[in-house]
Amino acid sequence: MKFFIDTADIEEIRKAKAMGMVDGVTTNPSLIAKTGQDFDTCLKEIVATVDGPISAEVLGTDSETMVAEAKKLVMYGENVNVKIPMTVPGMVAVKKLTDLGIKTNVTLVFSPNQAILAAKAGASFVSPFVGRLDDIGHVGMDLVDEILQIFDNYAFTTEVIVASIRNPIHVKEAALMGAHISTIPFKVIQQLAKHPLTDIGIKRFEEDWQKVPT
Ligand code: E4P
Repeated sequence: MKFFIDTADIEEIRKAKAMGMVDGVTTNPSLIAKTGQDFDTCLKEIVATVDGPISAEVLGTDSETMVAEAKKLVMYGENVNVKIPMTVPGMVAVKKLTDLGIKTNVTLVFSPNQAILAAKAGASFVSPFVGRLDDIGHVGMDLVDEILQIFDNYAFTTEVIVASIRNPIHVKEAALMGAHISTIPFKVIQQLAKHPLTDIGIKRFEEDWQKVPT
């Protein structure tokens, strides 16, 4: 499973990259706002740091505006793909951009039928938001399971990015289901490394080493 980092914070991206955990990056308007930087500086820094796919989101709501924004976004780097919200105008934009050879990531996906539309429109990636479904009492990972089964049934090539990840259980379940990609906040990447028995084991080895005669 590929690991994308779900952040626009360049320091977090650098730290996760040093661990070998950055196969790509997903950003959104909220994550850009959180950095306190302007969009241009922020995206330029990410493009200069990461070789894999980088998602940058449009803000327009009609297909013409989305396509125009997308054309500007891909000028930042050949690995930039365009995040398009799952709407009817969004699908028109995805179809147009696909025909132009521009890669898209359909975002804010909350149902299997939305994912089918994204794949049929030609999206390179589809992003089901599991945490936000959990937040309203649904099991977000069930959506991922269903999308993966549907894409397998019809050999769709659209890759599934498990998004809105909140905890290590989401990551484990995504891997067990065979999701192509998880986009993970930096805090959760750090949590994946932690286990109390590992910490206890290190402490015990250090204590025992003190008893070795010199
Ligand atoms: C995905 O591409 C989104 O940026 C992200 O996963 C949204 O996560 P949130 O629900 O924690 O805001």
